[in-house]
Amino acid sequence: MKAYILEKNGGVENLKQVQLKDLVATGDQVLIETKAIGINPADVLVRNSDFMLNMITGGNVPEQIILGWDVSGVVKQVGEKVTTFTVGDEVFGLISMPGLGSTYATEVLASEHQLVLKPENIQFSEAGATPMAALTAWQAVVTKANVKSGDRVLVHAASGGVGHFAVQFAKEFGAYVIGTSSAKNEDFVRSLGVDEFLDYTKVPFEEQLEKVDVVIDAINSVEHIQRSIKVIHSGGRLVYLQPHFAEALEASLQEAKVEGFGVFVSSSAENLKEIASLLASVKVNTKVTQTFSFDDLKDAHNVVESGRATGKIVVVTE
Ligand SMILES: NC(=O)c1ccc[n+]([C@@H]2O[C@H](COP(=O)([O-])OP(=O)(O)OC[C@H]3O[C@@H](n4cnc5c(N)ncnc54)[C@H](OP(=O)(O)O)[C@@H]3O)[C@@H](O)[C@H]2O)c1
Repeated sequence: MKAYILEKNGGVENLKQVQLKDLVATGDQVLIETKAIGINPADVLVRNSDFMLNMITGGNVPEQIILGWDVSGVVKQVGEKVTTFTVGDEVFGLISMPGLGSTYATEVLASEHQLVLKPENIQFSEAGATPMAALTAWQAVVTKANVKSGDRVLVHAASGGVGHFAVQFAKEFGAYVIGTSSAKNEDFVRSLGVDEFLDYTKVPFEEQLEKVDVVIDAINSVEHIQRSIKVIHSGGRLVYLQPHFAEALEASLQEAKVEGFGVFVSSSAENLKEIASLLASVKVNTKVTQTFSFDDLKDAHNVVESGRATGKIVVVTE
């Protein structure tokens, strides 16, 4: 199989395409012939930083590091204990998060418990781009914030991978949704169904909003999240995606009487099944805006690393 190994932490030049031995599925493993691989900010963070690599693997860093967690593809072989899938099934999943999913390869091994059948109406590229961003948004909007009909929900970075799913899930649960991005992404964010759009580059959001029920804050900044706390009413909920900010946010949350939840996404076939059913019924759509070939995977990393990606960036194998 073809794969990208990470030679050492650092820039994209450290991702090297190599030829490796074909994989074999055993036990509850499914061997997937890869069709598409979603590229996420986590991939870039772990590529750059040995601290992040150690954190995400719990210190179990293998000799040969293959990055990537999102995958879609076709089942090529199943281990003797697999009961859910058979050869030829079209599947997608978030593989081994936390851990190393090793999806930057033309063959991927995954536990059957992390995979879900791909809805027939969506492309492999859309399915491969979905798992990490959609599961993060699901675990933020549904599992932690428990967004309900009538809630006023502010979604920051609504134009990003996580944000574009968070907007759609919150709308699906009946919320009134306010989405932020810069002006160039306004049409994209409005196309997701937001009730209000805010250009964060024009006026600070806290000067335009007050007393919202829920904020989903995907911005990697304690200061930004503290500004978010100011627009939530007493008894409201904040979800942030940098759980290590918990201590720094504690005092502000207490003072504002706001409940705070730090989310770190985890593989979940149960959650992904719910997402697949929304994709199947076209109530939610994965918006892929840029597709790269397997040979151009480093270019996909550069786009994600820019912090300016719109929707999802995906790599396809053919
Ligand atoms: N904890 C977890 O498990 C977890 C999981 C997934 C992601 N994350 C983190 O969540 C963050 C978002 O992930 P993602 O996949 O959605 O990233 P992404 O797709 O790369 O997000 C890019 C988008 O963010 C928007 N943006 C940037 N700064 C903004 C600001 N100050 N206000 C509003 N919008 C802003 C940009 O819009 P403009 O170009 O218009 O500015 C761009 O469209 C990343 O930091 C990632 O590491 C955490």
